[in-house]
Amino acid sequence: MNTRQTTGGPRGALFGWAILIGSAVVFAVLGLLAGSVIERRAERSIARVQMVTPIDEWETDNAKWGVNFPREYNSWKQTENTEEATKYGGSAERDYLEANPRLVVLWAGTAYAKDFTQARGHFHAVEDVTRSPRVGEMTRGSCWTCKSPMVPRIMHDKGTAEFYAAKFSDFKSQIKDPIGCLDCHDPKTMALRISRPALKEAFSRQGRDITKASHQEMRSLVCAQCHVSYYFKDKKTSYLVFPWDEGFGPDEFDRYFEKTGFVEWVHPISGTPMTKMRHPDYELWRQGTHAFRGVSCADCHMPYKSEGGVKFTDHQVRSPLYNIANSCQVCHRWSESEVRERVVSIQDKTRELLDISETALVKAHITLGDAVKLGAADDELAEARTMLRRANTLWDYIATANGMGFHAPQEAARTLAKATNFAQESRIMAERIRAKRGALGPLPMPDLSTKAKAAAYIKPFVDAQKARETAATKQAKR
Ligand code: HEC
Ligand code: HEC
Ligand code: HEC
Ligand code: HEC
Repeated sequence: MNTRQTTGGPRGALFGWAILIGSAVVFAVLGLLAGSVIERRAERSIARVQMVTPIDEWETDNAKWGVNFPREYNSWKQTENTEEATKYGGSAERDYLEANPRLVVLWAGTAYAKDFTQARGHFHAVEDVTRSPRVGEMTRGSCWTCKSPMVPRIMHDKGTAEFYAAKFSDFKSQIKDPIGCLDCHDPKTMALRISRPALKEAFSRQGRDITKASHQEMRSLVCAQCHVSYYFKDKKTSYLVFPWDEGFGPDEFDRYFEKTGFVEWVHPISGTPMTKMRHPDYELWRQGTHAFRGVSCADCHMPYKSEGGVKFTDHQVRSPLYNIANSCQVCHRWSESEVRERVVSIQDKTRELLDISETALVKAHITLGDAVKLGAADDELAEARTMLRRANTLWDYIATANGMGFHAPQEAARTLAKATNFAQESRIMAERIRAKRGALGPLPMPDLSTKAKAAAYIKPFVDAQKARETAATKQAKR
């Protein structure tokens, strides 16, 4: 009763109103702040752009664009820097096969078993594809697709299908300019623009029109032109396709390849018909918290930067760990060392799970291979091979995605758990087949501790597989 009396009456009412109005003001200010966080990324910086000299429709010389946009050009040019190395990323050279010789066994029979190095900055794209030992006589034009802004023009002149099917070497003298402005921008308006057909085609197969994508979506979709998994429809056309028709996740990719029956190569050790994943960065990002909250690739990899009071987009696309203040701390109130520790701890866990999956996969391939040696027939091994193919698809999805699981940690962990399980089941099936054929105890594993040892181990299998394939082609021609 007493309390009622003190809070009641005209003075109490006034106090109540003061609290109400006060908190309304506080909430409005908080709302504005939250709004500005969203706007920080959704802001259309393009609207402020002024052109001094007009840019040609097909201009691929980044320096010419740089006359109008020196800040963007100068920061883009810094992707030439190759000094930086974080624990799992950065722009320095890194030979993944040397660091992890298991990959040589897992990708045996593909060019990836010969060469697989860390991605460097966009500035080096043409140089790196030209010098890669993965590129050979048989390499098709499609391998140029994500390396140069000169590609859309050749596709326009020659036809997209003709470009894909041509020889890689046909364009060697023409393609000089590395990934740059024309890959992501419309030269008239500077608006973000999709220049590659495979992404547009994948969207339209899903019944979506990419020209209707929102501004914030475009800040990721420009990257999705190249940072996605893809495959070549067949050897003859080498037509570039994104396997997105069932969805973006690893299980959906697996289902897609199951349905299409596509086989990329036959594994020379286990005889398994395989599929190859290729850096599904966009797809994995889509499954993480940041994508869920609308945080785009550009928010972390191309944050805003200030120079002499002018705010612009930092075009030095690289590991955000070199730029935590602009990339992460605009949203997270954590210290630089806390951010770094958090990222590395997520990555260490992904690396540990990858190790477990890879050990299981290598054992499965070798055990199936021994079952073949003991005379197991193809139909006897069919189920074990299906399991192994699925295990590989799931593992490869995470293994080839950049960022070591950071873009979607939980999805990476789930996928690797499933991959390990499938690989183990496959190996157990093969062990049973071996036992039935009189093998005693589990198979001892070879020494695969260096890239050279792994390469020597796979060589006889690869040679034998090549001989089988040549014989089969001759047979078919007859
Ligand atoms: C929330 C911030 C964030 C978002 C959003 C994000 N990334 Fe990343 N990305 C990172 C971090 C952190 C790393 C790990 C860098 C390292 O290990 O040095 C990384 C690594 C990478 C790498 C490897 C770089 C290197 O130096 O190893 C690529 C490529 C990449 N991301 C592409 C993308 C693409 C494409 C998208 C959008 C589909 C995207 N990222 C979205 C934070 C982000
Ligand atoms: C990989 C894609 C990509 C490439 C390559 C690229 N840009 Fe951008 N650019 C962006 C993104 C993303 C934005 C942010 C756009 C937005 O949110 O409105 C941007 C913004 C801009 C803007 C608007 C002003 C600003 O700084 O935010 C200009 C001007 C610009 N870029 C110029 C260039 C020039 C010049 C080049 C070549 C040297 C280039 N860009 C290469 C993706 C790219
Ligand atoms: C036209 C194709 C293409 C587009 C568009 C593209 N990339 Fe790349 N990106 C590549 C290629 C190819 C490499 C590897 C280059 C090399 O190793 O020489 C690469 C490398 C990278 C790296 C590694 C650089 C380093 O220093 O570690 C990052 C990070 C990256 N891209 C992020 C992005 C983001 C984010 C976007 C969108 C804003 C984007 N890329 C758009 C093709 C592309
Ligand atoms: C535009 C805002 C924004 C930026 C930029 C951003 N984040 Fe986030 N981040 C979020 C949001 C939103 C969440 C979801 C959790 C929440 O609401 O606090 C989140 C969650 C996280 C989480 C926990 C979830 C998970 O996936 O493990 C980590 C770790 C994280 N961010 C790291 C980073 C790092 C590292 C960078 C810079 C490379 C970064 N973030 C950049 C907004 C952002």
